[in-house]
Amino acid sequence: MTSKEIRKTFLDFFHSKGHQIVPSAPIVVKNDPTLMFTNAGMNQFKALFLGEAPIKYPRVVDTQRCLRVSGKHNDLEEVGIDTYHHTMFEMLGNWSFGDYFKKEAIAWSWELLTSVYGIDKDRLYVTVFEGDEKEGLPRDEEALQYWKAHIDESRILFGNKKDNFWEMGETGPCGPCSEIHVDCRPDDERAILDGKELVNADHPQVIEIWNNVFMQFNRLKDSSLKPLPAKHVDTGMGFERLVRVLQGKQSNYDTDVFMPLIDVIATAAKKSYGDDEASDIAMRVMADHIRAISFAIADGQLPSNNKAGYVIRRILRRAVRYAYTFLDFKEPFLNTLVPVLAKQFEGVFDELIAQQDFVQRVVLEEEQSFLRTLVTGVQRFEGYRAPDGIVNGDFAFELYDTFGFPIDLTELMAREKGWQVDMPGFQTSLEEQKQRSRAATTIDTGDWVTLLDEDQVEFVGYDSLEVETQLVKYRKIAMKGKDRYQLVLSKTPFYAEGGGEVGDSGWLMAGDEKIDIVDTKKENGLIVHFTNTLPSHPEVDFVAKVDAERRHDIERNHSATHLLHAALKKVLGTHVNQKGSLVSENSLRFDFSHFSKLSEDELRSIEHLVNEKIRENIAKKEQRHVPFDQAIAEGTTALFGEKYGDYVRVITFGDHYSKELCGGCHVPATGNIGFFKIVSESAVAAGVRRIEAVTGKASEKLIAEQGNALHQVKELLKSPKDVLASIQSLQEENNRLRKEIEKAVQEKAAVLRSQLMEKVEHIDGLNFIAEKIDLADADAIKSIAFGLKDKLPNLFLVLGYGDEKPGLTVMLSENLVAEKSLNAGAIVRELAKEIKGGGGGQAFYATAGGKDASGLPRAIQKARHFVQSASV
Ligand code: ALA
Repeated sequence: MTSKEIRKTFLDFFHSKGHQIVPSAPIVVKNDPTLMFTNAGMNQFKALFLGEAPIKYPRVVDTQRCLRVSGKHNDLEEVGIDTYHHTMFEMLGNWSFGDYFKKEAIAWSWELLTSVYGIDKDRLYVTVFEGDEKEGLPRDEEALQYWKAHIDESRILFGNKKDNFWEMGETGPCGPCSEIHVDCRPDDERAILDGKELVNADHPQVIEIWNNVFMQFNRLKDSSLKPLPAKHVDTGMGFERLVRVLQGKQSNYDTDVFMPLIDVIATAAKKSYGDDEASDIAMRVMADHIRAISFAIADGQLPSNNKAGYVIRRILRRAVRYAYTFLDFKEPFLNTLVPVLAKQFEGVFDELIAQQDFVQRVVLEEEQSFLRTLVTGVQRFEGYRAPDGIVNGDFAFELYDTFGFPIDLTELMAREKGWQVDMPGFQTSLEEQKQRSRAATTIDTGDWVTLLDEDQVEFVGYDSLEVETQLVKYRKIAMKGKDRYQLVLSKTPFYAEGGGEVGDSGWLMAGDEKIDIVDTKKENGLIVHFTNTLPSHPEVDFVAKVDAERRHDIERNHSATHLLHAALKKVLGTHVNQKGSLVSENSLRFDFSHFSKLSEDELRSIEHLVNEKIRENIAKKEQRHVPFDQAIAEGTTALFGEKYGDYVRVITFGDHYSKELCGGCHVPATGNIGFFKIVSESAVAAGVRRIEAVTGKASEKLIAEQGNALHQVKELLKSPKDVLASIQSLQEENNRLRKEIEKAVQEKAAVLRSQLMEKVEHIDGLNFIAEKIDLADADAIKSIAFGLKDKLPNLFLVLGYGDEKPGLTVMLSENLVAEKSLNAGAIVRELAKEIKGGGGGQAFYATAGGKDASGLPRAIQKARHFVQSASV
């Protein structure tokens, strides 16, 4: 079977058992503060497990693209070194939400593996949770009984909490699990040692392929376990491992999932895969990492310097580093793999092929910039001397952190020089950095205090801005050391930050009490209101009221963003895709894919088109419940990296102008926007441009300010008829005057020079001049000094000048520097003390500036001491 067939067989099998096939969620997670990237198939269903969102299909099946490169599940350092861990991988999963449980899950996984895929039963082992006394959890007798119906008891192993109790992260849904392992070793090896001994022992041929989790608990912040409202099944099968087993390969990389990439890499590197360990690892790293990088970018996460963007940048750099060192790729190459990958995933994850050019461009630019850093890093290493043959941990960390060197590479480079790396020292630095970043980002969250047994909250904010409501639950959180509260309301008009639009603010009122709601955010399925205090009587009825003025300003900017998006596509072309958006009460910011700077003409056309649509006063058409497929078929703009449900909300401003999937808040008709004005256009990243603009009151204010500035300019210029002509003539006059001054200064310098020639004192063979002169032009003084040096041998010159900002210049003939060990820099520093200043320069010519002009005569007097000690 090809990998495409294997994937399809999985989906079809569970479809035949009544499961709804759903698409993969994006690999980049939004709306969950505990997670950056999707690390398991169940992430997108977290709210269903916790009972925070309605269950639409009790049985679901999918293939989810996952990334395990940060947080609780992190495999990055293994990837490429071994042959069965990956950064991005597909997790095949079947789910029961409060429907079937252990019996069916076990029976179906066995049926699929042995009868449908035809894996030899003698090669399979299963594990069952042995229980945990500390957690108060019993052995999973139920799972054991169900397995016994399918597999010999001798092939059932018991595992501890680490292997057989699955948790999503520090908190969240969890439960005992049962894993299925396959022994892929040749028969002779199996005859010698029972595979049982190798289960969970990091053996490359005896590997886990499927995990069946029986979700029963929610792990709370205080680490206790709270039973979930219902029992669920969450399974995850490693697609790449399954393909390897079914295609009878020794490594995941030998399958048709990775070989198309490896072939391209090997050809370009003029090597064969399998030639030598070092270049094989590099090829695996590249073939693996390009998948993670490409899908993260396609799902909207650009490489950057912080958080999720930094994780992606690091993965990319790891790949470039391996390519550079072991395969001699000195020029960007990784980006050329993007089209190969896009083709491979056509019909599976179409996000990539749809944005192929953009993704390739971003990767190329990242490669170019890192290759420059890399060369510097290699030079740093070459210039480094390891004390006692031990590469300092701090230095290894600097290479890792600043130059993106993976530590194993630093070790290798060290080995080539016969050195070792101080690994404990490196780990300490790494740990310190992790602590720092953890401290900077973590929000300390308490557990919810529940008041109402209400699991779904109602959002009414599209229609009303004020509503009667009750508190469902609340908790205390600490953000940057400050206590805040999160409140969940049974009914709310507050829009939660999302789709680029900021969260609403306003008030929660009961009796005499009025509490500020400072922000509103979404967390999984919940709308969470942030306050600085808790109502004194949480159980009473409240009125929740949105700050309407602020909300209307936000709406103006959001609707204008839609008009802008459509205008960009019309003026620049359909390659324009939204790459980021921020809509607040003050302004709007829109990032989009486009490869060159916008010209002044393009900007004016865009602005003009948007304002024309505003003047047309087009009424908003809002459809709250359109089937997703229908919306797409009607040409509605959807965003990459966004997770949409089966039914979507569509906002239209003109059937042939702007139609977008959107959950945000908008004006009733475009006329409300008032006026749209672009403030700036700039680059944010490779292939991504940014437009910032204002509408409504803010645009009025901007125009008023600009008008005012112009008015002031006119006044300064004494109200000329033509301001531009007037400024031009001022500039011309200025130039003319400057030239005249330069000429005058030069003339004065010539005069001064002859005067100084007459002041020469002949002291013991030296031509000594020390004078205060009446000239403050640094260039002119320099030319006097150099002129005198050309004319007078054995010159020792000290000039003081400046009545407000005093300065000193010392000039020595070269022979004095060489023969007398005189140093102009040292002299000027000493003299500058008299004018409370400092300076320096070369041995024959140095200058200083100071603060106290009254010291100039003293400085000049002091110069004589140097002459006396140096006389010829
Ligand atoms: N959620 C389980 C896992 O990721 C299936 O292994």
